[in-house]
Amino acid sequence: MSRVKVTIDDVTIEVEPGTTILNAARQIGGDVVPPAMCYYSKLPGTGGKCRTCLVEVAAGSEKDPRPMPKLVASCSTQVMDGMVVKNKTSERVHDNRGGVVEFLLINHPLDCPVCDQAGECHLQDLGFEHGGAGTRYEEERRTFDPIDIGNKIKLHMNRCILCYRCVHVANQLTDKRVHGVLHRGEHAEISTYIENAIENDFSGNMIDVCPVGALTDKTFRFKSRVWFLKPMDATCECSKCSGKAVVWMFGNEIYRVTSRKDQYGEVEDVDGKTGWICNDCRFDKKDVSNWNIEGPRKIDRHSVISQGHYTSPRESAQKRIADGSK
Ligand code: SF4
Ligand code: FES
Repeated sequence: MSRVKVTIDDVTIEVEPGTTILNAARQIGGDVVPPAMCYYSKLPGTGGKCRTCLVEVAAGSEKDPRPMPKLVASCSTQVMDGMVVKNKTSERVHDNRGGVVEFLLINHPLDCPVCDQAGECHLQDLGFEHGGAGTRYEEERRTFDPIDIGNKIKLHMNRCILCYRCVHVANQLTDKRVHGVLHRGEHAEISTYIENAIENDFSGNMIDVCPVGALTDKTFRFKSRVWFLKPMDATCECSKCSGKAVVWMFGNEIYRVTSRKDQYGEVEDVDGKTGWICNDCRFDKKDVSNWNIEGPRKIDRHSVISQGHYTSPRESAQKRIADGSK
C-alpha cells in the first residue's frame, strides 16, 4: 500500500498506513511530538489511558476534510491520507492538556522534593508546562501506605496515575497471566497480585516504565537526587540480558543501574531487541568492577538532568573555538 501524507503543526510527512498520529509526530521529532504518559512503543497494548497525548484533527483526510469535533488521543488514532493535525499550534490542545494535568494531579501528591523520580518525571514536566498554580480540588485525596513489591521495589500507590505500563511489563515478561489493577474508578489500585511478577528476572523493568515515582528502586531510594549523578553507558557480561545499561555514578560509586532510554523515556533497542535489563544487572551489580564503562550518556530530554551543568569559562571558550564560532 502506498504511504499516506499527514501534516502535523504545518510539517508534512509521509508514513506507512496504520501509523498512529503520535508515531508520525515522532518521525518528525522535536516539539511537534505530543507528550505520552501511558503509551509505550515497546509494550504492545499500551496507550489510551491518560489522554495527555490529545491533539486536534483540523482535517480528517483528503477525501473527507471535515475537522473532527473532539480532540483525539494521538497514540491510538491512525493517520489518514491528507490528515491535518494540530498539536503545539492549537490553543484547544493546550487548554485541554492543562485540564488533563489537573485531573492527573487530583490524587497525585506534590512530594517532588522527596520523590526519587524528581528530575526525570514526566508528570513533573507536564505540571511545569501546563499545570495551574493552585488546586481547585477540595475533597480528601485518596491515600495508601507504601508497600513492598518484592524486596527490591517499593510501590507508592499515592503517586500512581494508573497508566497500566507496569501491568503490561508484568503481563509481557512473565509466563503466567498477572493482573495488576484491582477495582475501578476512584478505588482502582495496583494490586498485590503484581507481587507474582517478582519471581521474574525482568520485573525491575516496571521501575523504568513508570512515568512517575510510584515504583521506585529500593536499592537507590533516597540516596541522591538524580541530577547530582553522572549517567554513564556501561556494559557487562550477562547471560540473562544484553548487559547494556546506564550506571548512575557519584564519584566512583555506582548508585543505581537503569536501562538505556531514548528521548521519550522509553527503553532503547539494543542489538535489534528492546533493551530490558535483568534484575541482577539492575539491583546487584553496584561495583565498578562489574562494568565496562563506555562513556557519558547523553540525556537529551528536556529534563533537569541534562540542564544546568556547570561549564568553566575556559571549557566554554575551548568549545567555541572547536566549533569555529565566536
Ligand atoms: S505504578 Fe507507575 S507504571 Fe504502574 S500504573 Fe501506576 S503510574 Fe503506571
Ligand atoms: S499516551 Fe495517549 S492516552 Fe496516554
